[in-house]
Amino acid sequence: MPSNAPIGVFDSGLGGLSVLQAVRALLPHESLLYVADSHFAPYGERPDAFIEQRSLAIGRWLREHGAKALVVACNTATAHGVAALRADAPWPVVGVEPGIKPAAASSTRGVIGVLATAATLRSTRFAELLARHTAQGQRFLCQPGRGLVEHIEAGDVDSPEVMALLEQFIDPMLSQGADTLVLGCTHYPFLIPAIRRRFGTALTLIDTGAAIARQLQRRLETDDLSAPRLLNASGSLQLFATANATALQTMADRLLPNAPRVQTVEIADFGPRGPASLDLPPNLPIISV
Ligand code: DGL
Repeated sequence: MPSNAPIGVFDSGLGGLSVLQAVRALLPHESLLYVADSHFAPYGERPDAFIEQRSLAIGRWLREHGAKALVVACNTATAHGVAALRADAPWPVVGVEPGIKPAAASSTRGVIGVLATAATLRSTRFAELLARHTAQGQRFLCQPGRGLVEHIEAGDVDSPEVMALLEQFIDPMLSQGADTLVLGCTHYPFLIPAIRRRFGTALTLIDTGAAIARQLQRRLETDDLSAPRLLNASGSLQLFATANATALQTMADRLLPNAPRVQTVEIADFGPRGPASLDLPPNLPIISV
C-alpha cells in the first residue's frame, strides 16, 4: 500500500468528526476518507453482532477504496468490532476507547463519571478496561447516554431536551462526588459547550480525540506508512454517509475549513456470518444493559 494512500475513518454518524478533526490537526498532510454509517446510527442500542458486522463491512469498503489504515472513530464499534477488523486483514487498525486511564490519572477524589453508549458499557473490552483501574481504588460511575446521539445526529447540541438529559445523567455523578467525566462516545465532545454552561468547571472532561491522533501517528511511523510531508500541501478529504448526508455536511462545514460535499453511498453487509444475519430493520427496539 503506498504511503500517500488515504486513511479510512468511520463512525456510526457524525461523532467521528471529533476524532477526524484531531487527526487533521496533527497530520494535515494525510489524506482521509470518512464514512458516517448514518443509516444504522445510533450503534449504541444495537446488538453486539450487528455492530461487529457493520464495522467489518465499512472496514472492507474503505480498504477497497484504497485506505492504507483504519481509525475506528467510534467507541461502540471499537468495543464490538475492532477484534474482527484486526483479524480480517493485516493493516493498521486504531480504535478508540473511553479515556479511563487519563481520567484515573486526573481525578483527585478518585470518583469518575463515565458517559458512553449502552453497547460500549456492556462490552467485555470495557469491563476489562475498567477492571484494570478499579483495582487501584478508583470509583467509576457508568451511565448510558441514551438519547444524546439522536439529538447530536439531528444537529441539536444544546436544546432544553439535551440540557435535561445532561442533568439527568450528570447530576447524580456530582452528588456522588465525581470530579472527572469521561466522554466515552465520540459524539459527546460536541456537548462540551453545553456541559460547561450547565456545570461550569465542576468536572474535568476527558476526550481522547488528540490521543487517538497521536496513536495513529505512531502506528503509521512504525508501519512505515506516513505520507510524505510536502511544504504547505495538505492531504485530501472525502466524506461519505450511508444516509442523512445533510447532518454530516452541516457539522463538517462547521468544523472543517473547506469541507467537501458529502457523498451518499450504500455499503452492503458481508460479514463472516453472511448477509442474512444482518437482515435487521434500521431501528431496532432498545435493549437494556
Ligand atoms: N460515536 C459512537 C461512539 O463513540 C457511537 C454512537 C452511537 O452510534 O450510538 O460510541
